[in-house]
Amino acid sequence: MILVTGGAGYIGSHTVLVLLEAGYDVVVFDNLSNGSEEALTRVEHLAGKKAHFEHGDIRDRERLDEVLSIYPVTAAIHFAGLKAVGESMKKPLEYFDNNVSGSVHLLQALRQAGVFNIVFSSSATVYGDPGTPVFNENMPTGTPSNTYGYTKLVVEELLKKTQAADPRWRVALLRYFNPVGAHHSGTIGEDPAGIPNNLLPFIAQVAVGKRDQLSIFGGDYPTEDGTCLRDYIHVMDLAEGHVSALKAIERFDHGGVGIWNLGGGKGHSVLEMVEAFEQASGRSVPYKIVARREGDLAQFWADPGKAKRELDWEVKRSLHDMMADTWRWQSQNPNGYRE
Ligand code: NAD
Ligand code: WQD
Repeated sequence: MILVTGGAGYIGSHTVLVLLEAGYDVVVFDNLSNGSEEALTRVEHLAGKKAHFEHGDIRDRERLDEVLSIYPVTAAIHFAGLKAVGESMKKPLEYFDNNVSGSVHLLQALRQAGVFNIVFSSSATVYGDPGTPVFNENMPTGTPSNTYGYTKLVVEELLKKTQAADPRWRVALLRYFNPVGAHHSGTIGEDPAGIPNNLLPFIAQVAVGKRDQLSIFGGDYPTEDGTCLRDYIHVMDLAEGHVSALKAIERFDHGGVGIWNLGGGKGHSVLEMVEAFEQASGRSVPYKIVARREGDLAQFWADPGKAKRELDWEVKRSLHDMMADTWRWQSQNPNGYRE
């Protein structure tokens, strides 16, 4: 059985679906601070199989011990945490508490339960600003431009040092690029509370009429059209990457740490994203170009070669799929999971 912390959230719920479809039993552990049980109900309909759900906070060691005593867990996929970049600068204690202390408690509870396989949601933000747009896993980690990014870097170090001290651990550090999209059915997707921080949910809310226009942060970057480039990855491709990583660490002869970029290896500009969304949705997305946002790099994308070689994984879905699936989710669920 796989313990999925944060499994009621965006990437977690899609990964739970892929796990169930691959035949795994799953228990989700989530405090619902940014997730929804409705997402798991919909996952159950799609998979024809139910994931167990346990309400709880990863900072609550007793609750973790209790859940791990009930279910025969063999591995954990650890999504739980806070992820809003701007908020992290205002609330560093909350971010270190949830993301770092929460991870410490989780590792202690797993060790006590004899569970040493863990897949962790890291982020391309741990590379900092390496001065080249193509990020590969041999590069040293850098200085993330925000507190959220620091917590990811700290948890990577926590996992590396824990593994170095106890070789029973098998660890996957998955560095995501820019996850977007939704399940093809349009029944599960990203449901941000309040004003979206990320580009695609914002575009989708403009298209559906919830917001007037998109503000594009900067039109004078040294890129072809002056807007930033990112490596957007379909959330279902990302979810499948987790199952591949889980299988890869299970194949390790001894314990170890595997670090893999999960990205498509190609950058798309903000203007390209707007155009592709308009094409897929048939709606117009009014925008204005405003000042740059602090902390944004002009362009970066993944070198996806290591994941391809070692995980036998690569992205399968196109930019059009990302847009069409986002639109299906957004238009069928204009208020997300809140009816
Ligand atoms: P999300 O907010 O949708 O999911 C996180 C889930 O964790 C939520 O369901 C929330 O209720 C739960 N949670 C938060 N704190 C918790 C705690 N203390 N105890 C138990 N549950 C808790 O976010 P997401 O986009 O699905 O991201 C999942 C993971 O991937 C996060 O760790 C995030 O930092 C990481 N990540 C996300 C992105 C992205 O752009 N979405 C990129 C790179 C990495
Ligand atoms: C994408 C592009 C913006 C909103 C963040 C985190 C990263 C990871 C993924 C969690 C940029 C532009 C955006 C808007 C815009 N998260 N933009 N108008 O910043 O690449 O990455 O999410 O782990 O750690 O930093 O993603 O979606 O915010 O922005 O012009 O209203 O869209 O400037 O070029 P980002 P994003």
